[in-house]
Amino acid sequence: MERIDGKEIAARIKEELAAEISRRAAKGEKTPHLAAVLVGNDAASETYVAAKVKACQAIGMKSTELRFPAEITEEQLLEVIDRLNRDDDVDGYIVQLPLPRHLPAEKILGRIDPAKDVDGFHPVNAGRMLLGLPAHLPATPAGIVEMLSRHGVETERKHCVIVGRSNIVGTPLSVLMSRKSAHANCTVTLCHSGTPNIKTFTLQADILVVAIGVPRFITADMVKEGAVVVDVGIHRVPSPTSRNGFRLVGDVDFENVAPRCSAITPVPGGVGPMTIVSLLRNTLQAATR
Ligand code: GUN
Repeated sequence: MERIDGKEIAARIKEELAAEISRRAAKGEKTPHLAAVLVGNDAASETYVAAKVKACQAIGMKSTELRFPAEITEEQLLEVIDRLNRDDDVDGYIVQLPLPRHLPAEKILGRIDPAKDVDGFHPVNAGRMLLGLPAHLPATPAGIVEMLSRHGVETERKHCVIVGRSNIVGTPLSVLMSRKSAHANCTVTLCHSGTPNIKTFTLQADILVVAIGVPRFITADMVKEGAVVVDVGIHRVPSPTSRNGFRLVGDVDFENVAPRCSAITPVPGGVGPMTIVSLLRNTLQAATR
């Protein structure tokens, strides 16, 4: 069993992006600038945004964190979005999800200038991706495709089974993995909470991607011998033996599934770091246009 080291692959990509940013600076071009909007005090969101800001610093990209209380009104947040759209120094920005319940995410995301929508969540980018036109691709699916490609996982003619149909991961990944390209060209099956007997499908997977949001949902009996497994989940579970009382697990029961796999991503250190480099790449692309 090989471990697909997303952290190491992401580190190499960050070096490439840093070199590109230096080349731009040497030509007198502006430093790419990513802004992140964080509403409320969701602990996981705070961690993710901090990781994104830190990654920007590491590659010489400018970043701005815009924090607002959970009580911000829809009108106030839309004003923030309009201001970011007009700000010529900001090349791209994200609104960290989830938003507090009183804020309509669809409306907020729909107000982002598609050219600055480096999360790829705006309907224009989602539509362009679907049609195979140039677009900002959503960070996690794009990161998974790049990770598989750089690790040397063969995808053409393989059966890729995706578990989870979110707009952020499963649905766009089903589009990317079925594209006619050397890094995809899979036959894709998209399973979800409405799929009866999911195991019948997961057992057919040459490549199994799990983004269902349930800790250790995929057990060894659900995985074909020799499969490549990509685990998008990340959950804190209590662990009396850990120093801080918890540990991180994914949507896959790693200990029991890993021995059956030809390759598998760890949690943490698999998909997470790849998501961040996709966001950096999209921001550099936004600055280049
Ligand atoms: N919440 C979970 N994943 C993401 C992501 O990729 N982008 C944003 N903005 N919020 C998220």
